[in-house]
Amino acid sequence: MQEMKDNLLEYARMNEQKQYVEKIRSLLLQEGGSPLAYIHSYGCQQNVADGEKFGGMLAEMGYGFTQLPEEADLVLYNTCAIRENAEQRVFGNVGALKPCKRRRPDMVIVLAGCMTQQQHVADKLKRSYPYVDIVVGTNSWEEFPRLLYEKLALGRRYIKEGEELQNAPVIEGIPLRREGRLKAWLPVMYGCDNFCSYCIVPYVRGRERSRPWQLILREAEELVRDGCREITLLGQNVNSYGKGLADSINFAELLRRLNALPGDFIIRFMTSHPKDCTRDLLDAMAECPKVERHLHLPVQSGSDRILAAMNRRYTAGQYLELVRYARERMPDLAFTSDIIVGFPGETREDFEQTLKLVQEVGYASLFTFLYSRRSGTKAETMPDPVPASEKSRWFQELLVVQEKIGQKVLEAHVGKTLRVLPEGVGRSGPGTLSCRTSGNIIVEVPGKEELVGNFMDVEITEALNWALAGRQTDGKK
Ligand code: 5AD
Ligand code: SF4
Repeated sequence: MQEMKDNLLEYARMNEQKQYVEKIRSLLLQEGGSPLAYIHSYGCQQNVADGEKFGGMLAEMGYGFTQLPEEADLVLYNTCAIRENAEQRVFGNVGALKPCKRRRPDMVIVLAGCMTQQQHVADKLKRSYPYVDIVVGTNSWEEFPRLLYEKLALGRRYIKEGEELQNAPVIEGIPLRREGRLKAWLPVMYGCDNFCSYCIVPYVRGRERSRPWQLILREAEELVRDGCREITLLGQNVNSYGKGLADSINFAELLRRLNALPGDFIIRFMTSHPKDCTRDLLDAMAECPKVERHLHLPVQSGSDRILAAMNRRYTAGQYLELVRYARERMPDLAFTSDIIVGFPGETREDFEQTLKLVQEVGYASLFTFLYSRRSGTKAETMPDPVPASEKSRWFQELLVVQEKIGQKVLEAHVGKTLRVLPEGVGRSGPGTLSCRTSGNIIVEVPGKEELVGNFMDVEITEALNWALAGRQTDGKK
């Protein structure tokens, strides 16, 4: 139980911060009114889950929340560094706050997240964005209340430069402000040790750290008790869950234990690295009725040469073998993937291998990205002779190929009866419900809003070009 002891330590660190939460609360009360915070998280679900922690801390301090940054007393951008355009968007949005800050100098601007871990970003913020008040990293939860207190009470600006992430602890005991009750993100591990040659994540999120399974189970139980119907387990590489914990447990076993919890709820997870996606994990998925039939398994490329240059440590053949086994165990499994087009040195032939693999797998959908050079990564210095215009053409070609495949996947659902979760009012407005299949595909169904959150059986009647249409078969109207 060493990790539980370590965790108590981390709880203690968070407890220290409670005094600052209280100090801010009384400060804000003295100033009268109820201040508003605006939080925006860019990028991946992990970042969104981190944003919920900032929201939880701010709520405890007495902040209300607004959707409009212009009217907020505190604006927090939780940033993403995965591609250059994500960074540019953040700088653009921060720049747009300048006139607000001039009008209302008391407005507090906070930047957090992956971007802030990079030295060139910290330098740029210091130099060109003097109106940004607090910059914290990806693991600074336990520092945030103190830094905010020092800003509010003493006017102290704080820019964190390159947080030390080598032995970063997992901080527990942070309050959360979740987006909704029905669906929840549940981080199970943080960081990444894979060092794919194009990727900045291992540098900005640090080494892999798993949360103790006891805390994950407890959080899941509480969520289900509070009415949550869908729990998505998060980690940059969930398949390496358990490494470094004193108890011997892997991700497959974690799934089995979560599946055994009582209650009517479903489990999803992301992201799985193919090199660590074991048969044991696929068997666990197949055995566990609460684990949905969707696997996000980023392949990145279909060319073995490029996969090696990317340091992915699997071949296209090994990937396809995994897909084959998974389908053998779960014939209705839906696959999605991430693909990078235009990795340095990628040739037309390499790209065609990707097209071939995409056709062979038959993905329900794809997240496609143009390669973006990231400072400090291995790929940064690799020769990259293909012009951007050529890469864009390949990218468009991939989209066209996938569109046809995605449509076929949708059409294959027509006539089937599936259990779905209604998540909210449908795109067609009141009187329709937007539901999700086990494979994570949207189904639009006529139905009343009261049915949101109640699993229902639906017969799929039509494949639209963006989702499925269906009708209830179990009599609830
Ligand atoms: N350029 C383009 N795409 C990238 N990704 C990660 N780093 C880069 C990069 N430098 C993509 C990968 C990953 C997803 C989250 O983002 O496909 O799986
Ligand atoms: Fe980046 Fe690779 Fe880690 Fe995913 S597995 S976060 S792509 S380094």
